[in-house]
Amino acid sequence: MTEAEQPVCVIILGMAGSGKTTLVNRLTSKLYSSGPPPYVVNLDPACLEVPYPANVDIRDTVNYKEVMKQYGLGPNGAIVTCLNLFSTKFDQLLSLMKKNQGRHKYYLFDTPGQIEVFTWSASGNIITEALASTFPTVVVYVMDTVRSVNPVTFMSNMLYACSILYKSKLPFVVAMNKIDVVDHNFAVEWMRDFESFEEALDSETSYVSNLTRSMCLALEDFYKDLLVAGVSSTTGDGFDELLQKLVAAEKEFHDVY
Ligand code: GTP
Repeated sequence: MTEAEQPVCVIILGMAGSGKTTLVNRLTSKLYSSGPPPYVVNLDPACLEVPYPANVDIRDTVNYKEVMKQYGLGPNGAIVTCLNLFSTKFDQLLSLMKKNQGRHKYYLFDTPGQIEVFTWSASGNIITEALASTFPTVVVYVMDTVRSVNPVTFMSNMLYACSILYKSKLPFVVAMNKIDVVDHNFAVEWMRDFESFEEALDSETSYVSNLTRSMCLALEDFYKDLLVAGVSSTTGDGFDELLQKLVAAEKEFHDVY
């Protein structure tokens, strides 16, 4: 199988409410209309319903409410436990995915709402590593552009993105979502031009603004080669660019791993 024919796993991560599920849904329909259909996996045990046709759904394997009751857990503890239970059967999913090779270009993974239950849990690690050691794997970090117009909030979002890059060590695409509400150009400008970011910070007088200035310089390397696409998961704008960035991220995977 050539590199171009090899499937790619895309793990979709992002803060609660950033639009992960809506993005997976939009990406799924985009892929359906432009090539081989994607293989979609829902890893969020606590969601009520998913808008896309999931090939594999964690809710078919573990019952979130039952786990909460049985183990006496709170919402996040129950999500982690569901992921732990699911990860013990992950080899079965990998076998299924291998069997389906050739039929799908993209395997999409929608993750739980609270980002840290995936990125900071043992099972999240196990799943990420199992995928990356079997198929080319990339991360899409969904950023809520509307919630990032404040430079301090933007910086805290970027620091989070950077920490995920460190943790996953996988090629990384930032999808600046909700551009139907706020255009993402301000954020791209802040990444490219430190002075414009400094200007935006001028109105901030708190001690964090000084810290944010220093952080921005520290993140220069992170920004330099970062793959970014502005998208609206609601209207579908920017998804051609997102697909191009996914191809670039896949290439990065092949070059580095
Ligand atoms: P959780 O997993 O539940 O934390 O959320 P999520 O990250 O999967 O986000 P979800 O897709 O549920 O979207 C959260 C809210 O943002 C919903 O009300 C969506 O309709 C809205 N939303 C998602 N994408 C967009 C977008 O591109 N534009 C606008 N205007 N709203 C969006």
